[in-house]
Amino acid sequence: MSAWVPGRNEARERLGDEFDKLSIESKLSVSRSVIDSSANPLVVPIYHSSTYVIGSLDEYLAPNHGGNFLYRRCGNPTSETAEVMIRELEGGAATLTYNSGLAATNAVFLAFLSAGDHLVCQLPIYSGTHMFIKNTLMRFGVEVTWVDTSRDGFVDKVAHSIKKNTKMIYVETPSNPVMTVIDVESVAKLGGKTANGTILTVVDSTFASPILQKPLDLGADIVLHSCTKYMGGHSDMIGGCVTTKTIELWNALKMQQLTTGSSMSPFDASLLIRGLKTASLRVIRCSESALKVATFLESHPKVKHVWYPGLESHPNHKIAKKQMRHFGGMIAFDVGDSATARHVVEAVKLIVFAVSLGGTESLIEHPASMSHGRHLHHHQDGEKENAGEDFSSISEGLIRLSIGLEDADDLVADLRRALDSVHN
Ligand SMILES: Cc1ncc(COP(=O)(O)O)c(C=O)c1O
Repeated sequence: MSAWVPGRNEARERLGDEFDKLSIESKLSVSRSVIDSSANPLVVPIYHSSTYVIGSLDEYLAPNHGGNFLYRRCGNPTSETAEVMIRELEGGAATLTYNSGLAATNAVFLAFLSAGDHLVCQLPIYSGTHMFIKNTLMRFGVEVTWVDTSRDGFVDKVAHSIKKNTKMIYVETPSNPVMTVIDVESVAKLGGKTANGTILTVVDSTFASPILQKPLDLGADIVLHSCTKYMGGHSDMIGGCVTTKTIELWNALKMQQLTTGSSMSPFDASLLIRGLKTASLRVIRCSESALKVATFLESHPKVKHVWYPGLESHPNHKIAKKQMRHFGGMIAFDVGDSATARHVVEAVKLIVFAVSLGGTESLIEHPASMSHGRHLHHHQDGEKENAGEDFSSISEGLIRLSIGLEDADDLVADLRRALDSVHN
C-alpha cells in the first residue's frame, strides 16, 4: 500500500452532509483541493514548481512525506484540484489526471494486465487505444479477444469470450466513431469476482463526458476520459483522467504514475478546471443542438444513415435513454461513398474540418481516411489478423461530426448547403 493519499475536497469538509445534497453543477463550482497557504485565492493558481521545500528529514521520512507535494511528477495542487472535482462528478473513490487521454488508457492497461492475461476489448474503438493494444500490449504477451459491435448481441459475445485468464473487459461508450452505445450495467455484471479471479470492467466515457453518464454507478470498476474533449471543452489543452471505484485500484495507478511520468501538467490542469466549471452548460447545449442536427441529417436525401443515440432509429436508443442524462454532441452519418464524404467535409464553411471533438467549435472529419484510417494499421511482422479486427464497420462514406456551441439552425444551414452541393 502506498503512502500517497487522494486530495481532500475543502468544500466537502466545510459543508459536511450538505455537500452530497448539492447538484453536480454546484459541486463543481465549490470543489477544490485543500491547499496549505496563507493566501486564499478564489481560483486555484498554476503551481508550476517542479519541487517542493521539505521542512525536515523527519517530515520527508513520514508517510506521504508529510503531504502530497514533493516533486511535480508525483502531483501538484492544481492537478489535485482537477482530480477532486472529477471524483465528485464520477462518484468514485479517487481520480488521477494524466498528460493525455491515451496516457490514461495506457496506464490502466499497464497497471492491471500482465503477460498471459486475457483482455476482452470492444471494436471499433478510438484508433489510438486499438493501436496501443496491438502494438504494445500484445507484444508484451497480453492475449486479446476483439468483440465486434457492428452486429447484434454484444453482451452475449463478451460473455462467450471470457476465459480463465480474463482480467479485463474494456468498452467505449458511445464509441468512436460509429456511436455504438454499450449497456454498461450488463457488461459489468460479467466482470467482478469470479472463480478464476477478478475481472475489471473499464469504460472509456469520453464521448458522453461525466456530465451525461456515470459508469461507476452502473457497476464499472474504472472510468476514464480524454479531458482534451468535453471536460477541457475549449480545444486548448491535452489531458486524461481515470477514476476508480476503490482506493486500492487508485493506489496501484498512483504507484505506476510515479514511475511512468504520465501526470498532467499544472497548466493543462488549470485549463481543465476552468473547462469543468462550465461543462454541464456546454455539454447539455451541445446535446440539444446535436439532436436538432441529427434529425435534419436523417431527413436529407443525400444521407444514407445517421447514428445518434438520441434518435429512435439508433439501434441502442433504449440503452442510451436509460444510462445517459442527454445524448451528447457526437453524430456519425453515412453519405454512401468516399468521394461524397470528402466533398461534404471540405464544403462546410461554419463547421471546421479538423480532428478531435468536444470543444466549443463544431468539427467534422472523415474517419476512414483520418482518425480511423487503414494507414494506421501497420501490422507487426508475422502478426495475424484477429476476427473483426479490421474496422470493417467503418464505411468509406462515414462522416464524424462534433457539435459545438454555434446556433443549431446555423449548423443545419451549413450542412444543408454542403449536402445540396453534392453532384450525383
Ligand atoms: C474515445 C477516445 N478516447 C481516448 C482518446 C485519446 O485522447 P487524447 O487525444 O487526449 O490522448 C480519444 C481521442 O480522440 C478518444 O476519442
